Amino acid sequence: MIRRLAPSVLNADLAQLADQVRLVEETADWIHLDIMDGHFVPNLTFGPPVVAALRPHTDRYFDCHLMVSDPEALLPDLADAGAGGVTMHVEALDDPDRALRAAAGHGLDAGLACKPGTPLEALLPWLDRLDLVLPMTVEPGFGGQAFDERVLPKIAAAHRAIAAAGRPVALQVDGGVNAATAPRCLEAGADVFVVGTAIFGADDPAAAAKAFRELLGQGGEVG
Ligand code: DX5
Ligand code: ZN
Repeated sequence: MIRRLAPSVLNADLAQLADQVRLVEETADWIHLDIMDGHFVPNLTFGPPVVAALRPHTDRYFDCHLMVSDPEALLPDLADAGAGGVTMHVEALDDPDRALRAAAGHGLDAGLACKPGTPLEALLPWLDRLDLVLPMTVEPGFGGQAFDERVLPKIAAAHRAIAAAGRPVALQVDGGVNAATAPRCLEAGADVFVVGTAIFGADDPAAAAKAFRELLGQGGEVG
């Protein structure tokens, strides 16, 4: 899979959201948007209206990470807002089959995420229908946390499972990804790198994003 950089704006200056995205746009493949409801996670961010407001300011793919208790309820509005893909937490879904069908019905790429303590096996039954898998490397909710390296074997296992499935499923990492931890994720087989504070907490976010883009390289065949 081609490697992708997906800066997360969670810890950017949200009062200048469009300008912040513009800073990293040249090197960002996707823009990662963390949608939190204050219920599934103890933090509350933004929802479809903000995604829609940002849409005219960039042509980058919007990768929406839904840390909410009822992700299915947001799908129609996110599709209308111009989201490209939605990643739902398996812990929040009582019927993943229905949720994946709903995402496809709205023309959204679909991913499943799991918290560090949730076994990968919870996602594997859906691999043949997924566009993306996200084994979180921090407890979801906040940027700036330390990378949990105990998740590395899970990333490697996900990589093997994707290879065995023979489908172009993206393997995303999110949480504590920085210049020191990204190479370890690369080694484990990750191909989409969400980077929050290591970009937007840097003195020069544009330069930090560029450095990440170089660190990642291009990856294999386009997929
Ligand atoms: C956390 C979010 C992340 C967050 C990552 O729950 O899902 O996308 O922005 O931020 P860093 O890169 O600072 O860990
Ligand atoms: Zn995220």
